[in-house]
Amino acid sequence: MNTTYFEVRKNSLGTTAFRQKSIAALPEGQIRVRIERFALTSNNITYAAMGDAMQYWQFFPVTEDPEWGRIPVWGFGVVQESQHPLIEPGERLYGYFPMASSLDLTPSTISGGHFFDAAPHRATLHPVYNQYMRCSVDPFYTKQTEDLQALLRPLFITSWLIDDFLADNAFFGATTEPGHKGWMLLSSASSKTAYGTAFQLAKRPNIEVVGLTSAGNVAFCESLGCYDRVLTYGQLPQIAPDAPSVYVDFSGDARFRKALHTHCKRLKYSSSIGATHIADMGGSKDLPGPKATLFFAPAQIKKRSAEWGSQALAQRLLQSWRDFLATVAGADSPWLAVQHHAGPDAVKATYLEVLCGRADPHTGHILSLGAAIEA
Ligand SMILES: NC(=O)c1ccc[n+]([C@@H]2O[C@H](COP(=O)([O-])OP(=O)(O)OC[C@H]3O[C@@H](n4cnc5c(N)ncnc54)[C@H](OP(=O)(O)O)[C@@H]3O)[C@@H](O)[C@H]2O)c1
Repeated sequence: MNTTYFEVRKNSLGTTAFRQKSIAALPEGQIRVRIERFALTSNNITYAAMGDAMQYWQFFPVTEDPEWGRIPVWGFGVVQESQHPLIEPGERLYGYFPMASSLDLTPSTISGGHFFDAAPHRATLHPVYNQYMRCSVDPFYTKQTEDLQALLRPLFITSWLIDDFLADNAFFGATTEPGHKGWMLLSSASSKTAYGTAFQLAKRPNIEVVGLTSAGNVAFCESLGCYDRVLTYGQLPQIAPDAPSVYVDFSGDARFRKALHTHCKRLKYSSSIGATHIADMGGSKDLPGPKATLFFAPAQIKKRSAEWGSQALAQRLLQSWRDFLATVAGADSPWLAVQHHAGPDAVKATYLEVLCGRADPHTGHILSLGAAIEA
């Protein structure tokens, strides 16, 4: 039996290959997980684009040839074989996987709800990515929402934390000026992480949530109903220059960032979240106004866990997740239409579509390199 891996050249993300590796006998203490479905969005492309700088290539290294990398994805798997006394075959798991058909894990720090992979090469990497949730007791889990969980859960947690971080900092003074609303300016407004953030921000008082997007994605952003207004990147001059504002940047587009910082004379804060526009990424030296500050989600989790307790934080997140999911999957006009793609050819074609930014924002891609995906 073999494991199939989808790999990309680290310095040329459009160059792809499949590698077959024969499966060895499972060592004592390990489990073998069959990866059944995983989501692919721009977030995964950003993992690849930042693979060296932010250590994403180190999770699932290609030991045979370090010029190639395995892009991490979020998804579901089932324990196929176990040499660990506390994990049974058949158990379903949610977590961080390579684009592959199976993965061997070394479970450690096992609790009722989750465990961590103790593979030596992952020891220095952030624990949030080394954690595997046990679906049978995971409060976020329901069988019928697996696709939406794979697509949205890691992104919405970030969205929720961005909104919480901004509120926690009183929107850096943007919402407290008499006679002015605070303008929250979100780039790549059609991305799942941006619209999750807008969904949360829209509940806050005295805020104008503005989505900035490409011309082709304006109608999609407007259809969501979570933006007070939607502008194309070229319509930046329509933002009142004297409006107190905050920039929440999902695009990473250096030229647009500079234009926005120059135009918005009363920009109170600039938060760098993502880099969907990978061809236009760049540094942020010599920016007018506030410096562009990298958002670090684990820092806000740590702060809120200390203030509220981790149980209370989890409860708040869960409630917001359920509200978000109910809206996204709304019977009348769902925000996402899930498409399944199984097998190497379909995975490669979908990857290249997402890489080029050609993917329709209304479509959520769920992939598998193993068997067909169960509906
Ligand atoms: N810092 C964190 O902790 C964290 C956590 C989660 C996500 N993120 C980041 O947030 C960003 C959004 O991720 P997502 O998965 O939510 O995205 P997504 O839903 O796949 O977003 C798709 C949108 O991104 C833009 N886009 C994608 N590829 C492009 C390309 N090649 N050229 C130009 N535009 C392109 C387009 O939006 P427009 O036309 O609207 O620009 C497109 O509609 C990613 O960079 C991700 O890494 C960061």
